[in-house]
Amino acid sequence: MEIVIADDATRCGSILANLITDAIEAGAATLGLATGSSPLLAYQELARRHREEGLSFAGLQAFLLDEYVGLPPTHRQSYARVIRTEFVDHVDLDPGRVYSPDGMADDITAAATAYDAHIAAAGPVDVQILGIGANGHIGFNEPTSSLRSRTRVKTLTEQTRRDNARFFDSIDEVPQHVITQGLGTICDARHLALIATGPHKAAAIAAAAEGPLSASCPASVLQLHPHVTVIVDAAAAGQLKNSEFYRYVHDHKPDPQKY
Ligand code: GLP
Repeated sequence: MEIVIADDATRCGSILANLITDAIEAGAATLGLATGSSPLLAYQELARRHREEGLSFAGLQAFLLDEYVGLPPTHRQSYARVIRTEFVDHVDLDPGRVYSPDGMADDITAAATAYDAHIAAAGPVDVQILGIGANGHIGFNEPTSSLRSRTRVKTLTEQTRRDNARFFDSIDEVPQHVITQGLGTICDARHLALIATGPHKAAAIAAAAEGPLSASCPASVLQLHPHVTVIVDAAAAGQLKNSEFYRYVHDHKPDPQKY
């Protein structure tokens, strides 16, 4: 696991944008996109590079990590719509090749299994962008998730519903259930790039990177993956102990020798 500590959220966003740009230039065909606020600055920087520097996403496909059950893709908080308005609408990625779990399916369990099979058949994901919940979740894999889980239906914890209530008019509107790629599904990606900023992420980052491998911190599964880049600002790095092993950068080009 390479841990990159940058000065602030903007720098973290441009480091993640560099990593994605490099992957595309190296021939990546499939991106794994994440919602949440953490990757937004990277998406904005990628959109700027598309507009001003000709970075192209044409020919790529993308898979989302997760989706709320019961929100149609037209709902402003459905992740399918969020990723469209925050990213896809601003680049030349074909919207017809941006896939997400079907949270409106009659048979939600079958929809989750079908989504997992779709990723396995069309993948692997070359670079999977990840955020992290304050409780250590990635995607919507809440604590106690099997470290080998596949895409399935999960019930959100109260903490996660409270954390996400800021995007809705009230907590009552936050769905109870989601479809999320499993931890095993996520780990099928070739390269995992986790971004986290702010002091409220510091405990989760320390547990994920330095804590025991445990379903109590689902993101600790990253310790088993051969190619992980964790990009954090100084605040989110605040509880890391092995600081002599980490990189403190002002700008960063991923170094293949380092992985
Ligand atoms: C959400 C999403 C995750 C996201 C995380 C952190 O619940 N399901 O994919 O990484 O919580 O969100 P944020 O980046 O807004 O802190």
